[in-house]
Amino acid sequence: MARPQSRYVCQSCGDAVLRWEGQCRACGAWNSLVETVIREPSRTNRPTGPRAVGASGVGAQALGEIGTADIPRLTVGIGELDRVLGGGLVPGSLILLGGEPGIGKSTLLLQAAAGLVRGDDPSARVLYATGEESAAQVRLRAGRLGLLDGVAAARVTILAEHEVGQIVEEARGTRPIAVIVDSVQTATTDDLDGPAGSVGQVRETTVRLMDYAKRAGVAVILAGHVTKDGSIAGPKTLEHLVDAVVNLEGERYAGLRVLRASKNRFGSTEEVGVFEMGETGLIEVADPARAFLVEHSVPAAGSVVAPTMEGSRPLLVEVQALVTPATYGNPIRRASGLDGNRLNLLTAVLGRRAGIALGSHDVYANLAGGLAVNEPGLDLPLALALASSLRDRPIRPGTVVIGEVGLLGELRSVSGLERRLREAARLGFAHAIVPRPARGRPAPEVQGVHIDVAETLREAVERALSDPVGRSDAIPAMLG
Ligand code: TYD
Ligand code: MG
Repeated sequence: MARPQSRYVCQSCGDAVLRWEGQCRACGAWNSLVETVIREPSRTNRPTGPRAVGASGVGAQALGEIGTADIPRLTVGIGELDRVLGGGLVPGSLILLGGEPGIGKSTLLLQAAAGLVRGDDPSARVLYATGEESAAQVRLRAGRLGLLDGVAAARVTILAEHEVGQIVEEARGTRPIAVIVDSVQTATTDDLDGPAGSVGQVRETTVRLMDYAKRAGVAVILAGHVTKDGSIAGPKTLEHLVDAVVNLEGERYAGLRVLRASKNRFGSTEEVGVFEMGETGLIEVADPARAFLVEHSVPAAGSVVAPTMEGSRPLLVEVQALVTPATYGNPIRRASGLDGNRLNLLTAVLGRRAGIALGSHDVYANLAGGLAVNEPGLDLPLALALASSLRDRPIRPGTVVIGEVGLLGELRSVSGLERRLREAARLGFAHAIVPRPARGRPAPEVQGVHIDVAETLREAVERALSDPVGRSDAIPAMLG
């Protein structure tokens, strides 16, 4: 077969040249040339974009005439994963599973492969193609996960191969219900010369797998390494090519992992799945609401528990802050798991509106458990954690705090407040500091929780830090 030609195409002006050059001659952009396969016109005309499953191919249809048949789903049987996918895998979709190296992508994918073939159909197969490890290494992991005794031993097939042409050929021959490719950074196509992981290779291999997925109606999951700054290594373009991007997050050396969709054409991007990495792989966390709470034997200054919402599910998290006098130069402001800009803003608002001057202090803030949450409701917990650390006074044990802080030091309520507080009550929290609800609505009432309503940041700081500390009846029974 004649090899398709490749060209180096400038990503900023679209000019194409035969050889790689550091600078585009047409527009002068540096490092913008990416090796790209040039296809024959008949092939370039075909749609490569994702087509909804069940597309009839009859051209445009009136909105009202389109059937409402549900999107078929292939459940993985791992509840937390199915939840994030929006109810299971959609046949014909391409899913990118991102995460830092070592976070557990291969583990989750192997468990998912086993889950997909768990049913009664003896002919159901999953093809697991790995370009990173040998088949023996995958078998070793399967043994650790206890998969060698089950049906997965016969129904999950391992292909140690990185060339997508070969992978697709194997898949066409064996007709699996799903294909897993681990990882996109090691996948290559022989039609390009660039090394594995280069922009051209990563994009072209993804396009080919997408094409296979759509044509064969088979779900394809692609693992992709994410760099420290959070982008999927290689081109950003990958994210808009695929149907769903799910990310596995967490601290590598801590046990908890959060699975979150940052894009999903077949479901919500709100839901999170919570796992714990154990001796036998990723285990679903039975009670995620409390998974991220840390037990303190004595009340700790700088720690505040916040009832956040992840999608439809309340999740209690602990915001931690540490404030120390700055030694030299510009004071440090560091946030992990929290928005750094909000931290800067809150230190300013605290200084101007609540008498908590942090201008000459180093400030560190993080979420316990390696979780990253980006919701405005964390403002107030973070502000109170900072105040608590500066004054070196713990806030009363058994207290939860939630609310958004405005520039004037005013507090705004959050959605689903009652839901969050009920969950806090369930976990044994007996006290809550919350903003006054908007538009004159009454403050929520939740059985078992004493609710303290504050209108301003100053008021909230006073309430939180003037309470008697260490009352034993206030310590949540279920955390003890
Ligand atoms: P892996 O799935 O290989 O990560 P990735 O594919 O994202 O690079 O998992 C890496 C880590 O998980 C590795 O350090 C070992 C650990 N691990 C466990 O703790 N328990 C297990 O059962 C397995 C399979 C792995
Ligand atoms: Mg891996």
